[in-house]
Amino acid sequence: MKIAIMGFGTVGSGACEEAKTAGGIEVKRILARHGREGYEYLNDIITADIDDITGDPEIELVIESMGGIEPAREYVLKCLRAGKHVVTPNKNLISACYKELMEEAEKNGVRLRFTSAVGGGIPWLFNLLRTKRADSITSVRGIVNGTCNYILDAMHDKGADFGDMLRNAQELGYAEADPSSDIEGTDTLRKTVISTNLAFDAAVTEEEVPCYGIDTIKACDIAYLKEKGLVCRLMMSAVKKGDAIEVSVEPAAFGKDSLEANVKTNNNLITLTAENIGTQSFYGQGAGMYPTGQSVIQDVLDIRDGKEMEIPAAASGLRADNSEAVRRYYIRHDRMCEHIEPLIDTFEERDGIYYCISKPIKVGDMHAMGHHRKEKGKDMFFAALAE
Ligand code: HSE
Repeated sequence: MKIAIMGFGTVGSGACEEAKTAGGIEVKRILARHGREGYEYLNDIITADIDDITGDPEIELVIESMGGIEPAREYVLKCLRAGKHVVTPNKNLISACYKELMEEAEKNGVRLRFTSAVGGGIPWLFNLLRTKRADSITSVRGIVNGTCNYILDAMHDKGADFGDMLRNAQELGYAEADPSSDIEGTDTLRKTVISTNLAFDAAVTEEEVPCYGIDTIKACDIAYLKEKGLVCRLMMSAVKKGDAIEVSVEPAAFGKDSLEANVKTNNNLITLTAENIGTQSFYGQGAGMYPTGQSVIQDVLDIRDGKEMEIPAAASGLRADNSEAVRRYYIRHDRMCEHIEPLIDTFEERDGIYYCISKPIKVGDMHAMGHHRKEKGKDMFFAALAE
């Protein structure tokens, strides 16, 4: 099969390498502004003109690994309209434009596949859909950002510095071009929206999901939690409750013997629960050139070999609703004021810092307080106490 790759960064080049290993796939064109060091032998097939791809009848499938929404969306639509299958790891695009792109693919009789958009090298979405066709999913939860896990694990295990570990994650190709989307939780948010909508045929949007990242965590939080036998992880959580879904992205503190606490480096751990099968967890490399590149190529091979996957074309009516979602939180605060005090069950004051365990608080209220403090430049961090 002859294919093209749009965008030749970490994942695009990883897919190119994995295509060689898989065999039977020829990369005929690469859309990029310039070549990539180490890939000079591909300079002849590099083009900056999308029409060289959409106008080439030999190219049957296009990998979109440009990232972001535009021009990725415009180019993917052009490829679909030109009758080309599309495979993409682009979670921004799938989270925001899923319905539009799926409908366009269907209209043109081609496939759109995005297994690598959540979980990097783990075939998470593939197995989620597979479970769903025979069972009823009740929750999806997990660690889905390799960069954050890499940082948190190194801070916990080695006392490493947040900034140093973020720079390492960038050098290793785990982090996004703008790593604020990793540490502020928006990368996890996009993966949460995609997983939730596929799991529950829902129509949840990014705006509906409370999202708080790890950008305000400090060494003192890690040390305090460690002293209490707890380990911090950034979690996606979506639980079906009747006709609504309780869904959030937030740091959570787990007992040191839990599976989540033992997820090391850039690995992801994603867990589904379904009515008949119970709980299943998927663990592996959640980011990086080769894991994500291979997941992209698995989708290419499935399309080439005519392996169908039941991906819902458009979502039904289920929406996010956190109005009944209540949790106890660890909260670190720089003072005990009238807003915080009524929410606190127990606290310890050390060197002017308040380490608190809250009473049960509504998830929305906790997030609103966290964002309000952040906007005001005030020092605060919180993490849900995992059940
Ligand atoms: N920046 C992402 C992560 C890449 O760290 O998980 C994989 O989606």
